[in-house]
Amino acid sequence: MIEFRDVHKSFGDRPVLQGLSFHVRKGESYVIMGPSGSGKSTTLLHMVGVHRADRGRVLVQGIDVADAGIEELTALRQRIGMVFQGGALLNWLNVYDNVALPLRETRSLPEAEVKERVEEAIKLVWLWSDREKLPSELSGGMRKRVGLARAIVTRPEIILYDEPTAGLDPAMSLQIDHLILDMKRRLGVTSVVVTHDIPCATRVGDRIGIISGGRIDVEGDPGILDSRDPCVLRFLGHGSIPGDVR
Ligand SMILES: Nc1ncnc2c1ncn2[C@@H]1O[C@H](COP(=O)(O)OP(=O)(O)OP(=O)(O)O)[C@@H](O)[C@H]1O
Ligand SMILES: [Mg+2]
Repeated sequence: MIEFRDVHKSFGDRPVLQGLSFHVRKGESYVIMGPSGSGKSTTLLHMVGVHRADRGRVLVQGIDVADAGIEELTALRQRIGMVFQGGALLNWLNVYDNVALPLRETRSLPEAEVKERVEEAIKLVWLWSDREKLPSELSGGMRKRVGLARAIVTRPEIILYDEPTAGLDPAMSLQIDHLILDMKRRLGVTSVVVTHDIPCATRVGDRIGIISGGRIDVEGDPGILDSRDPCVLRFLGHGSIPGDVR
């Protein structure tokens, strides 16, 4: 479904991805964790061709994204929903119009069909009664849910989530996790979830990969987060507690 093969990417002289390889199976949810600046968002952006690999291959549904032409890429992007780290809502559009945007932008669907899909997506994230509000009138958690509704409105086969629960309280994070699981169970979508949030990773992940030094350092089921693997301990910060310094 999604495969990275020995992907390298530098920005200027700063190498970010250095031989990144992993794959995500159809219908699976794969969680990417790793320190800030380790290249998690960059990895997601390679899947939709916003960034192109300097070396290596990025295959998404059989398409080599690093080499794809603009038409192929546009078609692929319509099958992928993305929930951006910052929400990326348009401040001058209300909830309804933000969610309708990808349908109005890229497709010539009849308005009745647009209405039906937008209503379904907004109801799925429990925001129907708030549909006329502007983003500035919403809480952070509500904005995240609008971003989620916008990502699913095209009925994508793949959803990419960048920090879907960052900055949310535990109850709201739990709701977002349930929505992610719901998308997977009800719609059979393949998901890639970037998160720092360990409870979220454990709940939604079939497998977890931890990025360090530009590649997947450790990979396994959520149980790896409880393991004594030095890479996991380093990521969780246990290598840096003062008593550990020799
Ligand atoms: N378009 C760009 N131009 C130049 N440098 C970039 C660009 N995008 C990302 N970088 C750099 O690449 C590195 C990885 O960034 P990225 O956003 O992928 O990190 P991240 O793992 O998502 O971090 P965080 O957890 O803070 O979101 C950072 O050093 C960042 O400054
Ligand atoms: Mg990021």
